[in-house]
Amino acid sequence: MQTITIAARKGGVGKTTLATHLSVIAAGPKRPVLLFDTDPQRSLKWWWDLREGDTPALVECEARELAKILPAAEQEGVAWAIVDTPPHAENSIAEAMRVADLVLVPTRPGPFDLAAVATTLDLAQRVGKVPLAVINHAPPRTGTGEPAIVAEARETLVRMGAIVAEAVISQRVAMSHAVIGGQTVNEYEPDGRAAAEVQALWVELQQRLKG
Ligand SMILES: Nc1ncnc2c1ncn2[C@@H]1O[C@H](COP(=O)(O)OP(=O)(O)OP(=O)(O)O)[C@@H](O)[C@H]1O
Ligand SMILES: [Mg+2]
Repeated sequence: MQTITIAARKGGVGKTTLATHLSVIAAGPKRPVLLFDTDPQRSLKWWWDLREGDTPALVECEARELAKILPAAEQEGVAWAIVDTPPHAENSIAEAMRVADLVLVPTRPGPFDLAAVATTLDLAQRVGKVPLAVINHAPPRTGTGEPAIVAEARETLVRMGAIVAEAVISQRVAMSHAVIGGQTVNEYEPDGRAAAEVQALWVELQQRLKG
């Protein structure tokens, strides 16, 4: 079993949105996925309640319970655990990071957002993890290269010592439409650009976990 914890000490950067998307894309007939909502806001649960069907399965718990629940889930044959975290509860975020094989840190590309990533990187370092930053809410590509704000954000993050995913998730209305309907973009608009970006992120995460 592999555990991905999505964490950022800043609100509204896309933690829950990425948790929904990665959990659906990770799930397959022989790959049961467990989604963990450790945020008292319960946004993930809100989305999950809107879904038709009950996959991926959702567990609402405190982050400190993860260390007990995850080994039991692995025994039960769960292939992926995706953990959503609250933005401000330092101890909870640290607990959720500690149990992760990969810590994913979404950020918007704006300057204040990037400054806030530093505190998340610090926390990850304190629990002995090397997180992967991912730029979300990016302006969609128009030409061949990355939009300037994305390229600059990438440079800033690298200067801060972060490892940054090649994959970038753009700000797209399809993302909101999908989530409001209890879906993900890969279900709502499977051939769309948003779905392709999420798929690319998923491929990259799997590669990084392998090696
Ligand atoms: N790529 C995107 N394109 C469009 N809208 C997005 C995208 N990512 C996130 N959003 C929207 O931005 C808002 C914040 O996203 P989300 O709730 O996932 O962030 P969060 O980091 O989990 O926030 P919190 O810290 O409050 O839990 C939501 O309304 C969500 O639908
Ligand atoms: Mg959230």
